[in-house]
Amino acid sequence: MVAPTTNQDDMHGEVYFPSAETIAQANVPNYLALREEALADPVAYWDKRAKELLDWIEPYDQVLDDSNAPFYKWFTGGKTNLVHNALDRHQNTAVRNKQAMIWVGENGDVRTFSYRQLWQEVNRFANVLKGLGVKKGDTVTIYMGRVPELPMAMLATLKLGAVHSVVYGGFSSTALASRIEDAQSKVLITCDGAWLRGKVIKLKDIADEALSSEAGKVVENVVVYQRTQHEVNWIEGRDHWYHDLSDGVSKVCDTEVMDSEDPQFILYTSGTTGRPKGVLHTCGGYQVYTATTLKYVFDVKPEDVYWCAADPGWITGHSYIVYAPLLLGATNFIYEGAPNFPDPGIWWRLIEEWGINILYTAPTAIRGLMRFGDEHPNASDLSSLRLLGSVGEPINPEAWKWYYNVIGGERCPIMDTWWQTETGGFMITPTPVVPLKPGSGTLPFTGISADVVRPDGTSCDANEDGYLVVKTPWPGMARTVWGDPDRFVDVYWSTFADQGWYFTGDSAKRDEDGYFWIIGRMDDVIKVSGYRLGTAEVEAALGSYPDVAESAVIGVPDELRGNVIHAYCILNQGLEGSDELAAILKKHVRHEVGPIAMPSKITFVDSLPKTRSGKIMRRLLKAEAMGKPLGDTSTLAN
Ligand code: WTA
Repeated sequence: MVAPTTNQDDMHGEVYFPSAETIAQANVPNYLALREEALADPVAYWDKRAKELLDWIEPYDQVLDDSNAPFYKWFTGGKTNLVHNALDRHQNTAVRNKQAMIWVGENGDVRTFSYRQLWQEVNRFANVLKGLGVKKGDTVTIYMGRVPELPMAMLATLKLGAVHSVVYGGFSSTALASRIEDAQSKVLITCDGAWLRGKVIKLKDIADEALSSEAGKVVENVVVYQRTQHEVNWIEGRDHWYHDLSDGVSKVCDTEVMDSEDPQFILYTSGTTGRPKGVLHTCGGYQVYTATTLKYVFDVKPEDVYWCAADPGWITGHSYIVYAPLLLGATNFIYEGAPNFPDPGIWWRLIEEWGINILYTAPTAIRGLMRFGDEHPNASDLSSLRLLGSVGEPINPEAWKWYYNVIGGERCPIMDTWWQTETGGFMITPTPVVPLKPGSGTLPFTGISADVVRPDGTSCDANEDGYLVVKTPWPGMARTVWGDPDRFVDVYWSTFADQGWYFTGDSAKRDEDGYFWIIGRMDDVIKVSGYRLGTAEVEAALGSYPDVAESAVIGVPDELRGNVIHAYCILNQGLEGSDELAAILKKHVRHEVGPIAMPSKITFVDSLPKTRSGKIMRRLLKAEAMGKPLGDTSTLAN
């Protein structure tokens, strides 16, 4: 294994060292020493963090129970509720009067909530859900646009001890239906519509379509928050306006006392089969992990305005918009709209107007805005920014440098955070005191023993590509796949079963300084604009079109979006491909999965390369698409 170094004189390549001022200001100036301490005794380390950052309704007896690995348990015996730490406890301190959320709508609407007000809104929402019969252990599916009521609905669900499953508002009715069915949610919370680039996305219509399938037999009540005020269809008895249900409802509501290991939320993510995979996070460890990572990495100060520009519907939004900032008592900024509407200067104007100190976004957004030139950011005063962040895919050094120089004014360190839905929070990331290399997530976080290994488990040499693994458990880790523990073991723990390591699905390398460089997914997951999609989901959508006999989907590198989707389709006997059919198929995928899944190219073929056991060799399609050598084709059947 390569021993990490951050010694100025010994480091290789292009390195950006933190300024003396940055180090002096950092929440955790001794971070590198703390990493050593945490690696030596992770249990003692997490015990400290759990006590320092959170209030436990009843203390835990054991920090880590590893008796049934890989089904690890953390903080067992502890009684808690995330909402107790995120909202309730702040009511007894000065944080009560502080801004919890500043929300700006695409049309310029502004809504702000102090910790007191947010607590009241969440209580009211929880009482509404209670009125519909929601109780501890039930699942609630949430399918909304980026409005304050989305985090409120999430928090309200947790307050009652129920489990939420948020489905990103860009997903289609089919995707929504399968997730509702898998989670068996009796309640669906949605909006009439969402604003996107001046147009209305008709979420209620999409939800209605989802509920016209088997999912409709599961859902008994639909709560609709009114945002766009267009006409919607209505089923009396099933559909309820939130403003009607909440009218006059109490703003006080008890918080359900949960065990540390009770389910907290499910988040569906893409895997190697088309069936949705509900990643489960539980109540105790998730709080400890997200609060620690946000505090150390984004160095949030009490007076900061922090903006994570993701959508609450993805894990980044769950952990670092909705939950960790509230656990730390921070001020969260949320913007409803897209980065380039009405023009590509909107983000920079918002930063100036609201004095944003921390901006956390994805490489695809940075590249998208970089395209429009420096005049947009230069037209705004960005001097309030102190820290920047990146997530979702590798950031190319060119975009990193633009972000650093033009947006950060050469003064703001960039936190390139590598993590996953399954990890709950940041895993490989710098903090402000760690020397940076553009394109590298630098080092594993405190208490995380990540490594890059060969198939036999031996550590790779410096700069040798290998499997990215995590060798010991951490509090934020996923606990299982909802309703399918075998799949949990199979997907994450079977590749290095002998060693008992978590396999991330990513390939990576470490350089001579021990810095990690993520290469990309090794499985059938494609990252498009930082969004995670499975080849199987897109192939299932193509296969559901009557003319398509079989298809294979690959991700092809793209300058702007990281990857784009190319699809290869075999049509039914006697049919011929055409540009018209390609356009129809693209639209079909868009409708079945969502806009992000739409293939950018469709090629009609007579056969697909397969192994003798019938597995499609996507690797060969990819090599061909990229004009690269095909490599080993000895297992090819045709
Ligand atoms: C990729 C998103 C390089 C990676 C939080 C991982 C990254 C997958 C980075 C998880 C990064 C995420 N650098 N690659 N900073 N962050 N990835 O579950 O391939 O949507 O396995 O979680 O995104 O995607 P997910």
